[in-house]
Amino acid sequence: MTRYLSLFFIPALVVLSSLVRADDAPFPPVSELPVHTELPDPLRMMNGEEITTADEWFEKRRPELKDLFQHYMYGYLPASPEKIRFVVERENKLIFDGKAELRQVAIHYGPDDCPPIHLMIVVPTKRSGPVPVFLGVNFCGNHSALDDTSVLLPTAWLYPHCPGCENNKATDAVRGGEKEKWDIEQSIREGYAVATFYSGDVDPDKADFTDGVHPYFLKPGQTELDKHDWGTIAAWAYGLHRAVDYLHQEKDIDIDRIAVMGHSRLGKTALLAGAFDERIDLVIPHQAGCGGTAPSRHDIGESVQRINTVFPHWFNDTFPEFNELVERLPFDQHCLAAMVAPRPLLFTNAVEDSWADPEGQFSVLKAATPVYELLGVEGLAADEYPSPGQLIDSRVGYFIREGTHSTTPEDWKIFRAFADKHFGRTHNNSRP
Ligand code: GCU
Repeated sequence: MTRYLSLFFIPALVVLSSLVRADDAPFPPVSELPVHTELPDPLRMMNGEEITTADEWFEKRRPELKDLFQHYMYGYLPASPEKIRFVVERENKLIFDGKAELRQVAIHYGPDDCPPIHLMIVVPTKRSGPVPVFLGVNFCGNHSALDDTSVLLPTAWLYPHCPGCENNKATDAVRGGEKEKWDIEQSIREGYAVATFYSGDVDPDKADFTDGVHPYFLKPGQTELDKHDWGTIAAWAYGLHRAVDYLHQEKDIDIDRIAVMGHSRLGKTALLAGAFDERIDLVIPHQAGCGGTAPSRHDIGESVQRINTVFPHWFNDTFPEFNELVERLPFDQHCLAAMVAPRPLLFTNAVEDSWADPEGQFSVLKAATPVYELLGVEGLAADEYPSPGQLIDSRVGYFIREGTHSTTPEDWKIFRAFADKHFGRTHNNSRP
């Protein structure tokens, strides 16, 4: 009888298990999670099992962490699209006195009427083969990063503080208003391509899910997001993944040298994108802070409760349950950092940006280091917190400069120095 039952039931079970979505992962409710007053051990499974080999890390713990971060914090990212279409909008215009080519491509990745991502790619003209690239999401539109009349304006809602913004829309009045924050011309001189898109192409940064990508990814019959569905940061990270889809078929890009950077909320995005997608070769979350590079278990700067209150749309609807229970988080941000291993990872900060808890970020990198070491590479090669201006350029790197919350040409110097080192480039590659 047992034998008969099992023969009969196996196909049924197979069908059933294929219906179990990852977001039904059998994790306990927040109130039943164990308390960890310290950062949880990245090398210990939820069931207590210790991870002692690289295979176990990649086959068991990393997938578990991926589920945990989606279930309790960022929400589940949809699977990669089965169909994706790249439409060249503007092609190969020479800019920077002929030193670079400017391309603009619309990436269609959702259902037909889902707004596309407009990716702007600037490639050095002088190249002897595919070039490394910095990819990042921008705050104020592609036209803010580059002063050229051919750059398309975003059509979605725009932050009012953006240069040239009128009634939450981009206008032609100011172009290149944020170009110092992108430093594209210097990256071109040093042989890097730069690719960027506006965050609002994927999801305008407002506390509602009526615009942007979310409505296009609801399940049949679903009218509202559920408590494990993706928030805005996960949506932006998904957008980065789609930009990587494009870069992977762009012949002038070296697909083994894709660096993703992002500032602040877009640094949180860069870290999530890099942690989840191994096609991203190097990750630089800049001044990302709470919900990104800073520990959630900390008393400095922004708290989990504060971020969930002021920006309720950034994470899923489960994360606020930790507002007063952060010690029940089954992970902390060092686990997200560790998911980047063994790829190079650099956290960068500013002395006056205590809101982002720069010292806490250093401890996050220290706590991610055992995972890098398990995978046979160095982690953060420094015990002492560095002085401002001193780059720790080990595979897990850290940098803090004087000054405030912003992205400056000085920061870009550090991003490129770190990428030069880990992409095996020297300054001899620099082009005047
Ligand atoms: C706010 C927010 C931070 C975020 C920052 C930014 O300060 O509290 O979490 O990183 O905005 O994106 O500039």
